[in-house]
Amino acid sequence: MSRPTLTKGKKVSSTASPSSLKSSGVDRSKSPLLAKSVRNGPSRLQVATRGKQFLSDKVGHFTESVIREMTRQAMMHQAVNLAQGFPDFPAPAEIKQAAQQAVAADVNQYAITWGAKNLRNAIARQMGVWQAITVDPEKEITVCCGSTEAMISTLLAVCNTGDEVVIFEPFYENYGPDAVLSGAKPKFVTLRPPATDNGEWTFDPKELRRAFDKHTKAIILNTPNNPTGKVFTRGELEMIRDLCVEFDVLAITDEIYEHILYEGTEHVSMVSLEGMRERTVTINGMSKTYSVTGWRVGWAVAPERITNAIRKVHDFLTVGAPAPLQEAGAVALTLPPEYYSKLAEGYRVRRDHLMPALTAAGFKCFRPRGAYYVMTDISAFGFDDDVSFAKYLVQEIGVACVPGSSFYRDARDGARQVRFAFCKKPETLDEAARRLAKLRRAQR
Ligand SMILES: Cc1ncc(COP(=O)(O)O)c(C=O)c1O
Repeated sequence: MSRPTLTKGKKVSSTASPSSLKSSGVDRSKSPLLAKSVRNGPSRLQVATRGKQFLSDKVGHFTESVIREMTRQAMMHQAVNLAQGFPDFPAPAEIKQAAQQAVAADVNQYAITWGAKNLRNAIARQMGVWQAITVDPEKEITVCCGSTEAMISTLLAVCNTGDEVVIFEPFYENYGPDAVLSGAKPKFVTLRPPATDNGEWTFDPKELRRAFDKHTKAIILNTPNNPTGKVFTRGELEMIRDLCVEFDVLAITDEIYEHILYEGTEHVSMVSLEGMRERTVTINGMSKTYSVTGWRVGWAVAPERITNAIRKVHDFLTVGAPAPLQEAGAVALTLPPEYYSKLAEGYRVRRDHLMPALTAAGFKCFRPRGAYYVMTDISAFGFDDDVSFAKYLVQEIGVACVPGSSFYRDARDGARQVRFAFCKKPETLDEAARRLAKLRRAQR
């Protein structure tokens, strides 16, 4: 998988010279291994540094996250960070209080590995309300360290080396490395940008069908979608469902933007479609719905047999998600329906705040129907590619975005796109707009 790296991480050399040990602050004179080597020739420590490949082949297949790297770049250049998708405004007071109370009540030790009972009960209840699905909180839910961990635990639990996983692209950048780490081979299906201002991202049903065969283990589906803002329609989901049933494939759905929808768009959960209950893993979490991306609480809901496998992986990866924050999660899930309508309306206002500023600065915006990102076309600026444009934007204009190529397998496919996150305070968006106006002037 080729992807852009803005700054390369320092590589651990497989042939590190003993002098690198000196700089690491190790007191060699006190090392019994080294002392012995002086008498008996090369030590075990030295042998290990002579040509052995310390790094796994897997990590060679992906770079560090470009999204997270852009946040570091934003900090370095005092740029307005419209790169990474985290809110810069407070989380709801009720849930912060619930977290404080849980810590004060000494909920400080490991929760049950697969999730605190209160939270699992609340998730099951809300799956009933939102998806009209009956879920057994004892057997079908695994609470993880964010939906990120829920996704990788699921893939590790279900994939064998060589299994194929279908992914729509552009895709949330974690899915590529997730597939590599779980030994699966990603097969990409293109989402095409809308041709008109008010159009939708679409896919070719024939291309989707071609992606399925006897090696296909799963499809990863993210709706509402990051980075495109696409909300898959019921018709599209039924088409995907029919393929899953025909080819005996699992749907792994990432629904963390479930409540962030615009213009009356409907979120349809794959698990709620006829025939999908037994072949869907539904992933969700607190990060986006309750503006607490740093809390690291997410979950996977799956049939019992799959849940048992996910729980095993999850247990040995992390043991459990933060216990007091799970209790706060149970409280968050009791918030009334108005909370969710206000959340979506707040993001609609932010979207409509940022998009005109981007358009005025020369970007072509693809209007999102859900989630809190806007994908844009940067052709008007005449840069060689998205990475050089993103560098210019963060260093010279003072606004961080994410280069489009980080959402594609082939960097060339995203070379004319960058993504902005608008989950920010009005004043942050104002400041970004003020800086983006400089970009327009610079182009004249
Ligand atoms: C589609 C998608 N899935 C998962 C995540 C990460 O979620 P979590 O914080 O629950 O790990 C993000 C974060 O931006 C995302 O956009």
